[in-house]
Amino acid sequence: MSRRPIIAGNWKMHNNREESKKLVCGIKEAIKDIDKDALPEVVVAPVFTSLGVVADEIATCGCGKIKLSAQNCYYEAKGAFTGEISIDMIKDFDAKFIIIGHSERRQIFSETDEMINKKAKAIIEAGLTPIICCGETLEQRELGVTDSHIASQIVKALDGVAPTDVANVVIAYEPIWAIGTGKTCDSAEANRVIKGIRATLAQIAGKENADKVRILYGGSVKPETIKEQMAQSDIDGALVGGASLKADSFVEIIKGAM
Ligand code: PGA
Repeated sequence: MSRRPIIAGNWKMHNNREESKKLVCGIKEAIKDIDKDALPEVVVAPVFTSLGVVADEIATCGCGKIKLSAQNCYYEAKGAFTGEISIDMIKDFDAKFIIIGHSERRQIFSETDEMINKKAKAIIEAGLTPIICCGETLEQRELGVTDSHIASQIVKALDGVAPTDVANVVIAYEPIWAIGTGKTCDSAEANRVIKGIRATLAQIAGKENADKVRILYGGSVKPETIKEQMAQSDIDGALVGGASLKADSFVEIIKGAM
């Protein structure tokens, strides 16, 4: 089963409009001579306030090499939800992906599995692709509950999603202890956990659909780590935080995934 790799940059709460424009232009310039089919699917996720400027830059290159993602959304279509952004508002910028369930949203903003499930269903309904994050804390890893915790996150996030829709979601396995710490999860271990995620997906949606799901690794991915990560049987790309904030290092990661 060949799955097209994805390299996604999660810019988190960084970059105003000017900085966002500079960063996406740097990426665009560095990959302009690479054939689109040779590239992984390249995704950037700026802050909401930079979606417009990044969308414009992506559109002017007209090459379809870079796709836009938001970092979060709300599942209701409109109404009295101060401070929230709907999926249609994100779609208005021609975004194709929305990251949901990032551990920072779960831990700092108390997002529950139930909210993440509602978001996943609404994103799929709108024709966009959710990038659903999951991952264990260091404490859970030490207690030996990593696999059961992640299986539970996946089952809850996809509750009520049709098997054929499951095939099109993207999952990001991000051990929380590896995020922003410089400590990457050993590639073989990340692959083992990701195989477990695929087994859970097969239980939910059947093996054929599970084999189509792209499962990314995230957590201190760097230019030096990507080749070994991509060499694993079940790792289909990366969700990159820190190293996506500089065009040079992000492009090195893209190239490392080719
Ligand atoms: P990091 O972040 O690459 O800086 O560890 C990854 C993420 O949180 O998605």
